[in-house]
Amino acid sequence: MDKGTIFSGMRPTGRLHIGHLSVLENWVKLQDEYKCYFGIVDWHALTTSFDATEEIQGNIRQMLLDWLSAGLDPEKSPIFVQSSVKEHGELHLLLSMITPLSWLERIPTYKDQLQQLGSQGKDISTYGFLGYPLLMAADILVYRANAVPVGEDQLPHLEFTREIARRFHHLFGQEILPEPQAILAKVAMLPGVDGRKMSKSYNNDIPLSATPEEIWQKVQMMVTDPARIKKSDPGHPDVCIVHTYQNIYNTDEVEELRENCCQGKIGCVECKKRLAAILDKKLAPLREKRAYYAEKPELLQEILETSSEKARAAAGETMELVRSAMHI
Ligand code: TRP
Repeated sequence: MDKGTIFSGMRPTGRLHIGHLSVLENWVKLQDEYKCYFGIVDWHALTTSFDATEEIQGNIRQMLLDWLSAGLDPEKSPIFVQSSVKEHGELHLLLSMITPLSWLERIPTYKDQLQQLGSQGKDISTYGFLGYPLLMAADILVYRANAVPVGEDQLPHLEFTREIARRFHHLFGQEILPEPQAILAKVAMLPGVDGRKMSKSYNNDIPLSATPEEIWQKVQMMVTDPARIKKSDPGHPDVCIVHTYQNIYNTDEVEELRENCCQGKIGCVECKKRLAAILDKKLAPLREKRAYYAEKPELLQEILETSSEKARAAAGETMELVRSAMHI
């Protein structure tokens, strides 16, 4: 608990999958070392989904269930929805006064996404999208967090957050916002069942909430060695998605499976069955926890309310310092 304060968040854009599990497992551990705040950042989801807002509440609920089922503990760490802690919005506004447009425009993720989504016919040349990194900076700075567990893709945003903190100190002469450092967890790149990047939109993911039947259905879809027709043909595990998964999730059996595959002694169906069993074992406790919470809407509501109160108290203290430094 004494290492400092953490903020991290995710946009509620859809169900989480097994590729997110190592991130969540890392958060669960960090809860015992830091004071953690975890935000479901719904305002960030609006930056690209402003035209499909009817899905947001359902996505928030699913994300809350995903998080709780993976072991985040609201007794240890407030788990809340960004938009219920208005201080994020106020800090974003105040910081926007001192943020040079050029700093936002040069962030690599901005140009990339603008182009990428633009080519898909989506116009995101909005003020909100340009300000995405500043809202993220406000999320972090409002808790005076020293550390932020993020993926590598978020590093430019964290660098930008530090620049804004420095600019604030330079302009107002008070060092009240610590410069947050990234906590980069080593995340194994997990491909989707078809070998592409795992994503709900490709339907090649294994959701954290998958039933045993869904797990088996997805494992059956996994692409194996195309050169292997009969069981007796020697297989090439290095080009097989099932093997990639066995390597990560089935460390006890992977060597034996590999050998038997190379010697044509085990068929792909048997190999897939073993993987499905392991994945089911991994996800069963999550499924159980999810079912427990899913039927208690009042409990979910209470978790969010109690958490946002705690978050507001911490964020409120920062805002008093910020307003006073800015004479507002
Ligand atoms: N931009 C982050 C992502 O897409 C989500 C996010 C918003 C976040 N605010 C944050 C992450 C603050 C860490 C800290 O993954």
